[in-house]
Amino acid sequence: MVNVYSFNGLVPVVHPDAYVHPSAVLIGDVHVGPRCYIGPCASLRGDFGRIVVKAGSNVQDGCVVHGGSKQDAIIEENGHIGHCAVIHGCHIATGVLIGMNSVIMDLAYIGASSIVAANTFVKIAMQVPPRVMVAGNPAKVVRDLTEKEVTNRIAANLNYQRLAARSLAVMQEATALPAAEPGRRRMQMDGTAITDEKFNEITRASRAARGLPV
Ligand SMILES: CC(C)(COP(=O)(O)OP(=O)(O)OC[C@H]1O[C@@H](n2cnc3c(N)ncnc32)[C@H](O)[C@@H]1OP(=O)(O)O)[C@@H](O)C(=O)NCCC(=O)NCCS
Repeated sequence: MVNVYSFNGLVPVVHPDAYVHPSAVLIGDVHVGPRCYIGPCASLRGDFGRIVVKAGSNVQDGCVVHGGSKQDAIIEENGHIGHCAVIHGCHIATGVLIGMNSVIMDLAYIGASSIVAANTFVKIAMQVPPRVMVAGNPAKVVRDLTEKEVTNRIAANLNYQRLAARSLAVMQEATALPAAEPGRRRMQMDGTAITDEKFNEITRASRAARGLPV
């Protein structure tokens, strides 16, 4: 891990069972718990206030997390922070999905297991209840979540916890090949290898389920 900086003597703290991509940047009063996944180019900048990312959370590629002077940036257990989201001096409760490219402003609170849709703007100090979906700019509560949506969220989060473990085990810096090798494997989210034929079958089923041409 190279991009780790102390700030005023405060050194980021990363649990040994967390995966932090080497291109992520961690500065100052940052705490990353066990089984967390911190993606490529994420920036966790604890130079104003504390940043706490609790066990099993993921902060995906390109996210920015910054503590404010009035509120730490807190991501409780099993948080799922989608690509390029901005988490600013706010409190994300357990099991929340923050959709990609969303902005969560200072003093906001997102209640447990809620979903913030992609590209949502959550205003300063907005208090979102548990198990709802919020969307839009500015964000509004759209509806309650179903039991199935909450269950699916837990499964998606576990995929990222497994990814953290696999990244620690199998990710290596490499040199790009000039061309793909014959019979190249494809990978599933759980790390199992599949053939092109199997992949095409899965893709066709997924498109058909949405009424798209196959
Ligand atoms: C919100 C979301 C969960 C889908 O919820 P859904 O209720 O199943 O959504 P649907 O696709 O059935 O659409 C329902 C309505 O919400 C609207 N909607 C969907 N996504 C939206 C979004 N991101 N912002 C605003 N409105 C959205 C749809 O336009 C639709 O509106 P309509 O009823 O007026 O036509 C999904 O669009 C989303 O944003 N997921 C975030 C995924 C993500 O970022 N993951 C992190 C990376 S792993």
